[in-house]
Amino acid sequence: MLLGEGRILGIDIGSSSIKLVELEQNGNAYQLRSVGEAPLPPDSIVNKAIAKSEVVSHTLSTLIDDLGIETDDAAISISGDPVLMKRVSLPYMSDSELKKSITWELEQSLYQGIKEVNYDYQVIPGQGTQDNIDVLIVAANKNATKNYISIVTDVGLNPVIVDLDVFSLESMYEVNYPESEGLVALVNIGASVTNINIIDNGESVFARDLTVGGNHYTHLIMAEMDLTYEEAEEVKHTQRVGLTDPGLKQFAHNFINSTCSEIKETIDFFSSTYCTEKVKRIMIGGGSSSIPGMKDALSDRTQAYVGILNPFRKIVYSEGAFDPEYIEDISPKMNVAIGLALRKP
Ligand SMILES: Nc1ncnc2c1ncn2[C@@H]1O[C@H](COP(=O)(O)OP(=O)(O)OP(=O)(O)O)[C@@H](O)[C@H]1O
Ligand SMILES: [Mg+2]
Repeated sequence: MLLGEGRILGIDIGSSSIKLVELEQNGNAYQLRSVGEAPLPPDSIVNKAIAKSEVVSHTLSTLIDDLGIETDDAAISISGDPVLMKRVSLPYMSDSELKKSITWELEQSLYQGIKEVNYDYQVIPGQGTQDNIDVLIVAANKNATKNYISIVTDVGLNPVIVDLDVFSLESMYEVNYPESEGLVALVNIGASVTNINIIDNGESVFARDLTVGGNHYTHLIMAEMDLTYEEAEEVKHTQRVGLTDPGLKQFAHNFINSTCSEIKETIDFFSSTYCTEKVKRIMIGGGSSSIPGMKDALSDRTQAYVGILNPFRKIVYSEGAFDPEYIEDISPKMNVAIGLALRKP
């Protein structure tokens, strides 16, 4: 038997770094096999389009070598500008009529021809009225998707699954929070995108990517303190200057405020348009959820309970092989990669 047969690598190609996770399933339990992260130079992925494919492939290839990965099958995901997500309410109709309506809905919303996207849709269970069905439509630009796939094939892997970041969050949540009920907003605040997936009893009822993320804050630090990207990232991570420098404090405050406003606006839009119930529970993750004050600010703003997602909550790992401090440190950034590693080929 080939090493790693039946397993799948979760590879999250983010704007700021590539994250990789490999899990082994034993019954209903999952064991961590490999985990790692490799930073990407700031101009490698721009507006979620791969701008420097050789740099991204090389970074992935080095990460795979460093981790000693032997598994070939990979799940990747895309988000942000190349993706459109839309929820629509349509009158009851036959499957073939529904397909035509979806095409029409997409033609109204896309900035590009329908031939330039791959699309899919899902009827939202238990929603809509007697006369209506509610549908979640997703579309992804073919060219952008192909470029992500090429990164994985360039390093000799088989891309067996191409998902969206928002849905991989859901896969991660399902396994790690099996007791969760009712309406929950999963919010992943990254470097250039914030993924939002509102689930109701485990089913996605609304999904959206906001083009807000920590890069904005990094660029403010770079400009204000005359630092390189790497130096500004270092300042963010250690918050060395953040606590004393009044300018930086203000930047952090502004970034937290604007991010929380956009998240609240999206959740309020969902509640007012599709649901009479308020979202009382928000679970956050992504590298930028670690900014001190983010969680409390979002809770104040939305009047909801805000918790931090732990993608390793139900994942078993050997403390001899993986340093618990390291796992805790990278945990906020691993939500998407774990969700991908949980997917079945
Ligand atoms: N401790 C921290 N304090 C503040 N910011 C942090 C911290 N750790 C990470 N970040 C920020 O989080 C961002 C990276 O998060 P993440 O890895 O989730 O994004 P990504 O997946 O690379 O990007 P995206 O999905 O948006 O393309 C960066 O902007 C980084 O500066
Ligand atoms: Mg990300």
